[in-house]
Amino acid sequence: MGVFRKDIFSRVAKIRAEKLKHHQTMQFPKNFFWGTSTSAHQVEGDNYYNDWWAWEHGKKNRRRSLKACDHYERFEEDFGLLKKMHQNAHRISVEWSRFEPEEDVWNPEAVKHYRRVLESLKEKGITPFVTIHHFTNPQWFMEKGGWENRKSPEYFSHFVERLVKELGDLTTFWITINEPLVYSTMSYLFGIWPPQKKNYISTYRVYRNLARAHKRAYSIIHKTHEKYRWKKPNVGISVNSVSFYSYKKHEFFSWLFLRVADWLWNHSFFALTGKTHDFIGINYYFHYRFKLNHFRTLQFFVEARHEHREMSSVGWEVYPQGIFDVLMDLKRHNLPMYVTENGIASRNESKRTRYLVSYVKEVYHAIQAGADVRGYFYWSFLDNFEWEKGFRPRFGLLDVNYKTQKRSFRHAARIYSEIASANSLLHKHLRYLGHSVSP
Ligand code: BGC
Repeated sequence: MGVFRKDIFSRVAKIRAEKLKHHQTMQFPKNFFWGTSTSAHQVEGDNYYNDWWAWEHGKKNRRRSLKACDHYERFEEDFGLLKKMHQNAHRISVEWSRFEPEEDVWNPEAVKHYRRVLESLKEKGITPFVTIHHFTNPQWFMEKGGWENRKSPEYFSHFVERLVKELGDLTTFWITINEPLVYSTMSYLFGIWPPQKKNYISTYRVYRNLARAHKRAYSIIHKTHEKYRWKKPNVGISVNSVSFYSYKKHEFFSWLFLRVADWLWNHSFFALTGKTHDFIGINYYFHYRFKLNHFRTLQFFVEARHEHREMSSVGWEVYPQGIFDVLMDLKRHNLPMYVTENGIASRNESKRTRYLVSYVKEVYHAIQAGADVRGYFYWSFLDNFEWEKGFRPRFGLLDVNYKTQKRSFRHAARIYSEIASANSLLHKHLRYLGHSVSP
């Protein structure tokens, strides 16, 4: 009898161990950061003193951020929801125009506010990643010519100096500038974002000045942390990385075009700023398929909808393999990498969940293939103000009812909490990708 019982127990233990293995197929490295991202103007509301606010109110038919998600007032409850989702990191941005609404006028209320924000994250065991420039600028700075002005890196450095003194004890992760190339092109080349210019020279100038500003900020942040004997900071940028595909693989022109495009989108900012990066933040949304249709109109890429490919509600192709490709491509810089944004605008929850699982799975494969990826931040925590597109696109893991400001967890949020809490893509999640595994 005794032998029989022992046998049963050992068999049960064996099955349990098997099950455990089965359920934790894709284990992420220890201390991996699972987070979400937001930016100040997109969630806070009432950012009266920046250029976006001025632009939104400059013409009748422009989308307005107004109260946005009222996150400025509700951050405490919102962070409580992050904790429920087992998050151990969160990316925010600070709003320069709140600190410095007029040139050289420093607002102590903003300091108090963001200190409370960072403290609240810390209390909950959530590591903050702080972006300093996320597309918006104080209105006074724009009146001086904005980033076209030769002195713009200087203005920015003054701000960074004061900012880091005030907040540096509460964070070690600093992202100086979010997507410098996107900002330069959307605002100065394509004429879509304020100040809506369409000028190659201005675009180049702005991009150069952002690079200069980053370099200065990098050294200021390091020096300040050293001076006050705070923990060594990690300073970087978030680059809008793009994966490319060519229909004509063996044609010289296509090959050359893609080399140049890859360099421009994914590497040029690093070329301009040299060794002033402690990590690379990667925002990944875009897979571009190269086919030169019209030379005259410079239409280089085929749109996903023209080929009936799967896409988000804003027309961006769903292509999970692309995140693997960009991580492997950016690996050449030999720096730790964090996916600081990745997500989909959709009102279809099974699509969002499939998106999340499939992209996280590719991040896992990139780590297995040697990419030093240390965190993943879903864009976005909440539905929010999607710039010129307004509130229509729904990027959030949490749905926001803008009338009542009520937040509700979406299905993908539940799956993301399971991933974060297990630090693993569980076997059962593969069901979303069509595998027939039992839960
Ligand atoms: C930006 C976000 C934006 C997201 C989705 C990123 O390029 O950093 O501000 O909301 O893409 O468009």
